[in-house]
Formats: sequence, structure tokens, C-alpha cells
Amino acid sequence: MCGIVGYIGRRDAVPVLLEGLRSLEYRGYDSAGLAVIYRNKLQVTKTAGRVQDLRDRVSDRTKATIGIGHTRWATHGEPNDTNAHPHTDTEGRIAVVHNGIIENAEQLRDALSDRGVKLASDTDTEALAHMIAAEAVGDTPLEEAVRATLRHVEGTYGLVVLDTRYPDELVVARNGSPIVLGIGEAEMFVASDVAALVRYTKQVVYLDDAEVATVHATDYRVVPLDGSGRRAADASKVPTTVEAEAGDYELGPYEDFMLKEIHEQPEALRRALRGRLDARFATAKLGGINLDARELRAIRQVKFLGCGSAYYAGQMGAVLVEELARIPSDAEPASEFRYRNPVVDPDTLYVAVSQSGETLDTLMAVQELRRKGGQVIGAVNVVGSAIGRECGRGVFLHAGPEIAVASTKALTNMAASFAMLALLLGRVRDLSAASGQRIVAGLRALPGQIEQILAAEDAIAEIARRFADAEHMFFIGRVRGWPVAREGAQKLKEVSYVHAEAYQAAELKHGPLALINSSMPSLVVVPDDELLSKNISTIEQIRARGGPVIAVTSADLPAYLADAVIRVPSGEPELDPLLLNVPLQLLAYHVAAKLGRDIDKPRNLAKSVTVE
Ligand code: F6R
Repeated sequence: MCGIVGYIGRRDAVPVLLEGLRSLEYRGYDSAGLAVIYRNKLQVTKTAGRVQDLRDRVSDRTKATIGIGHTRWATHGEPNDTNAHPHTDTEGRIAVVHNGIIENAEQLRDALSDRGVKLASDTDTEALAHMIAAEAVGDTPLEEAVRATLRHVEGTYGLVVLDTRYPDELVVARNGSPIVLGIGEAEMFVASDVAALVRYTKQVVYLDDAEVATVHATDYRVVPLDGSGRRAADASKVPTTVEAEAGDYELGPYEDFMLKEIHEQPEALRRALRGRLDARFATAKLGGINLDARELRAIRQVKFLGCGSAYYAGQMGAVLVEELARIPSDAEPASEFRYRNPVVDPDTLYVAVSQSGETLDTLMAVQELRRKGGQVIGAVNVVGSAIGRECGRGVFLHAGPEIAVASTKALTNMAASFAMLALLLGRVRDLSAASGQRIVAGLRALPGQIEQILAAEDAIAEIARRFADAEHMFFIGRVRGWPVAREGAQKLKEVSYVHAEAYQAAELKHGPLALINSSMPSLVVVPDDELLSKNISTIEQIRARGGPVIAVTSADLPAYLADAVIRVPSGEPELDPLLLNVPLQLLAYHVAAKLGRDIDKPRNLAKSVTVE
């Protein structure tokens, strides 16, 4: 995914920009570049390859105090030096870095060519540089030139613009692609992700869609892109403080961020639970959802919407809500929901689930819901993200920054948050105080239990290595184990590229059983619940056909029953999915490690999908 950085202040801009780009490397990219204004001229350096290659190319003598930088993930045009950002106009007055996709790029490029402009690159972004330059003449403020240009642009963007006429100013705009300002002491930072600025400042301002900001070293101003008056709300753009620490973005003793984040789960979970469990009344306190007991009782259905792992977490949530609150509940990929003209029911509580808070399909689903008068809350990790802001209320996940593309600790905190939501909904209905106490105690025990699972990592890694040569794998679960199986299959395929499919246990015999043989291992999720004997018989069916089985279980399953048994501590059965999921993360990680994969940045994937 592309990354943006910008700086204006008293420091030497180049090292700040390079450091910012380095901290965005985890998002994946194929080329990098930067532009500064030095002695009233633009100096642009860019290259296909790594930020280190860019560092090698930048002149040490360039001592600028303003600049912009970019890591690009090719969308229009192949990854090469010319297509890398920043892009400039013909005279080299304007430089632009851009994330997102300009949908009418073809028309804009053709219109420029018709006017005799020679485009140097194959990108959509270059058109913006030429168009802004055509508007930025005389004493037209840069912000006005940017606004005039963006009136002709369809698509998504987060962008930063430099203009040699205004060497003490950056202009920034957002529509569908995140932009955050970092407020320093007589210096300002711009980035597409707080990772790039958190080492310098914790005071940030998130731009909303259709906003433009003019940024100087000592002040900034945010206005609507359509120029519709100064919102009273410049005031609403007061900085917020980010929770993240610079160390969150460092690997420390770990090989990869995925492994680091798997190990951060006990602590992340403690943060998510802190202050939210009420043992006295055997319930949960989720003030952010802003629903009183009467409103909670009026909810007749709960629907979770998210993409990928966030959707599977939503499925875990739906099982919990049905079990604890006895309210009909389900989960649906936000990407399907937004496209199928859903019937929006006023008595349904919709929960938009997203680690990044920027996933476009989920954001669009939220907007559609709001247009149709649905009541929607967010379950979001990144404070200040688009989905969090659009929902306006919800549960923050408090997992801390999740850098690896594969989601681990955020998913655990999503499931824990949904357990608390289910508990809260249950306690205003028929869930007894005794059952509530049991869930409160079960939630409190989870971080320590996850520590126990992590302590068994070596044994799990050994099993992973034994099965790492498999070309295909089944993940089998039923009811509580079903979303766990789906998430486990997802994790394995995305980080190891081993083909993995999840099936509901009882569905096996309706077709997929035909694929079982000695080279098709199955991982069976076996919670310690009333379906234990059913799950044991599933294992027997698979083994009877020669299929190797890894059982992941909270039950006291005899070792002879499977080819490998991974045990997790036995807790409250409703919460078992949170424990059973952790060995599956480790398994995926260690298969990928054995196969030598680039674990934090799996091929073809990006951390959050903010474009169509
Ligand atoms: C899988 C994974 C993705 C994300 C999905 C949604 O490990 O990370 O499937 O879960 O892209 O992302 P968020 O949660 O940021 O909306």
C-alpha cells in the first residue's frame, strides 16, 4: 500500500522524510521518492526499489526544511523510477505525492495531451501535478489551485502538494485515503499513517474525506474541499493524542511483526478489558456505544460487518451474541452488504468491524447504513480512523498498532469486545447474574491462558514444520469452532501461500470428504463443549480415509485420537474460540517461516484496502 510523508519546520527535511518512509515500509511498496524545495527550486529524487536505495541516491548537501516523500505500490504504470512519486509539472514548480486511484485519469491525461502537455510517466498522479500547475499562477493561493483541480477529479486520494512559489507551505487533501497531520513545536508533519510521525509528536489531526489543509510550520487550517465556507469547525480539528509509542513500530527481539503481535496478545487483551468488566453487576461497561438499558433491550438483532479476518471476528461475535443474549445475530462481509441493496432494519444493531478503520468496503457499508437510518457502532482499532469517525460511537479495540498485514492481536481484541457486548446485551435480558459472573471471570482469565499457549510455541512450531510440506489443508469446525476454522485457514493461506479451505464439520460428508487422503491434512477445532463427541466422530471419519489430523482442543482429548494434538487451557466454553485461535496463528506463522515467506508483507496483499 502506498505511503505518504511530509515535513515543514526547522529540521533537515531529508532525514525526517527518509525516516518516515522507513517506518511505512511495512505496508509494502515497490518504489520510493522524495521532493524538497532547496534554494527556491524543487529537487526530486526517486527510484524503483527500497527506501535504502533512495537514501543512497539523495544528495547529502541538500539542506531543505520542507519536503514530501512517498512509497508507491503500482496501480497505474509499472514500478520504475519514472512512475515513482513525487510527480511534477513540466516546469518543475509543483510536486505531488498521492495515494489512491484517480478513476478518470485517462480522460484527464488525454485532456492534458490535447493541450500539448507532455506526460513523462504512466501514472494517474502526474496529471494532478500538471493540472495544479495550470491553476497555480500569479498569486493564486496553492490551496485554491488544489481545490480547483480536485473539482475535476473522480476517485480516491490522499495527497500532499509542494509549490516553489510558497516554500513555507504544504497543501494536503483527502478523499478516501487516510491523511494525518502531526503537530510539533514550530514544525508540522504529514503522513498517511501515524507510524511515520509518532516518533516526533503524539498530537495529531485526522483529515476527513473532502477536506483540504494548508500547513505551515507553526499553524494549519482545515477547510472543506468544496470551499463551502470555513467550518466553525476549524475548532473541531483540535489535535488528538495518539496512543502509539515509537517502540510499537520496532521489531525488538522478534523476527517479524506478526510474531511480535502474536506475543503481544495477553497485554493487548488486558488493555481491551481494563475498566470494562463489572464483577459486581456481572456485566460489561461499554460507554462508547452510547446505548442505555432501554435502548439495549430494544435491539432485536445484531449484525456484524467487516472484511477478511474482521468478518470472521464478527462471526465469532454473532455466535457469542446468540449464546449469551439470545438475540438473532449474524455476520456478513461488508463488501457484499454494501453492493446488495440491503434491507436496513431500525431495530438491528449493526457493528462495523475493522482493525485499520480505513477499509473502503466497510466504510461504504457504514455510509449506506447511515443513509438508510440504521444504527451502527464501530469496533475499530485505530482511533481517529475513517470508520471510527463515521460511526461516531463504538468500542475501541486498544490492541495497539498492528503492523503485520496478517491480523492477530486485533482479531483477538475484536472477539473479546464482542464477548463484552454479548454479555452486556445478555444482562439486560435473560442472562442470569451467575452466568454473567462466569463470563466476567472467564474474560479475566483469558490473558493468562493465552500466555500459557504462547509458552508452548516450540511444540506448536514443531507440528507446523511436520506439516509444512502439505500443498493443501482443511480447517474443520462447527458452531463455536467454525469461525475459528475459517480464520485459521485464512491465516495459513495468506502468510504461507499453502492452499487452505475451511469447512463446517458436518458439511464434509456432503462432498469435501472425497478430497481426503494421506496428503490432505485436516486441522480440526475441538472446543470442550456439548459437541465434543460430534467433533471426535469427525476426526474418526477423516482418519478412516487416511487423512492426517491435527486437533486443536480445549478438551481432554486422548493423544492417540489424532496425528498431533495441540491443547489450550480449558476455560468458559463460550470463550473457547479466543483461545483456540491462538495456536492457529502460531501454526500459520511457523509454516510460513519454514517455507521462507515474507511473513509481514505477503505477496499481493496490503495492510488495509482503501481503494476499489
Ligand atoms: C487477514 C487480514 C485481512 C483484514 C481485512 C480487513 O489477516 O488482516 O483479512 O482483516 O483486510 O481489514 P480491517 O480490519 O483493517 O478492516
